[in-house]
Amino acid sequence: MAWRAAIIGATGAVGQEFLKVLEERRFPLSSLKLLASARSAGKSLRFAGQDLVVEELSERSFAGVELVLASAGGSISRKFVPAAVAAGAVVVDNTSAFRMVDGVPLVVPEVNPQDIASHKGIIANPNCSTIVMNVPVWPLHQVNPVRRIVVSTYQAVSGAGAWGMWELAEQIKAFAAGQPVEKKKFPHVIVNNVFSHNSAIADNGYNEEENKMVLETRKIFHCPGLLITATCVRVPVMRAHSEAINLQFTRPMSEGRVREILARAAGVRIVDDRKNNVFPMPLDASSQDDILVGRIRQDISQPDGCGIDLFVSGDQVRKGAALNAVQIAERL
Ligand code: A2P
Repeated sequence: MAWRAAIIGATGAVGQEFLKVLEERRFPLSSLKLLASARSAGKSLRFAGQDLVVEELSERSFAGVELVLASAGGSISRKFVPAAVAAGAVVVDNTSAFRMVDGVPLVVPEVNPQDIASHKGIIANPNCSTIVMNVPVWPLHQVNPVRRIVVSTYQAVSGAGAWGMWELAEQIKAFAAGQPVEKKKFPHVIVNNVFSHNSAIADNGYNEEENKMVLETRKIFHCPGLLITATCVRVPVMRAHSEAINLQFTRPMSEGRVREILARAAGVRIVDDRKNNVFPMPLDASSQDDILVGRIRQDISQPDGCGIDLFVSGDQVRKGAALNAVQIAERL
């Protein structure tokens, strides 16, 4: 079957990656509609050797469309996804709009592909930091259930959208030229800096990104009692997120067993060269499909042998967003 598809937010960072991933994976398409704001209407974007003209998104955009990949922000999805579903399309939504809605499957294909079948028109794509953590933790959890996760993130600016990458690039240029470094949309200067994730702080003191990692992982793993605490931080990196992950398993877990499991896990590549000090890095993870996993070691603060530490890097725009959504669509 070849799909009549549309991309909402085609001109954005994730939208552009959708085009790359669909082309690379030869996703079966009979037509592709590119949708964005009025600002971009009339622009053309290259796809599979053709120039496709961007159209302004409206509720009438979905006539005849069977598959929608949406990545233009939560408020746009809340407004337009219902119209797409009403027109008969299946929507893979990359925003947070429907992720925690009961009955909407939230899917990482390496973890819970079986949930796709229960969709009623919308399948939600998880938060990028959630995906980067879930891909390597799930195969371990299958063998020895994880009781508690402590995660700290080092998140790329791409997670904020194309403007985040533009802002970092501008600040790098200004710094290199000895000019004053000015912030624009980020709340703080990002070059030469790290800051707590730029999402709102909830009543529990966690920011939205941290709460997403906790709640989404529980939903994806079907494990409502899983204990998770997260600290999410923005770093001056273009497009891959890294995470330090501490795991407490139900039973003792050896470092060797973790290596064995991860060596055959889908979507994971072990990068763990202690001799040469080569471990996962965002530069190496960028534009890669796999989540890089390394620093695999026994947690010496858990004397019962149940603790493992990992450090991972994964391309936020790719596996954290566009690739994961296309993999969901492939399973449809
Ligand atoms: P546009 O480029 O026309 O502004 P990013 O996450 O990289 O910032 O990209 C956001 C995407 O969402 C872009 O494709 C952007 O289109 C699109 N977008 C933003 N606002 C709207 C809107 N009101 N209607 C349709 N698309 C929108």
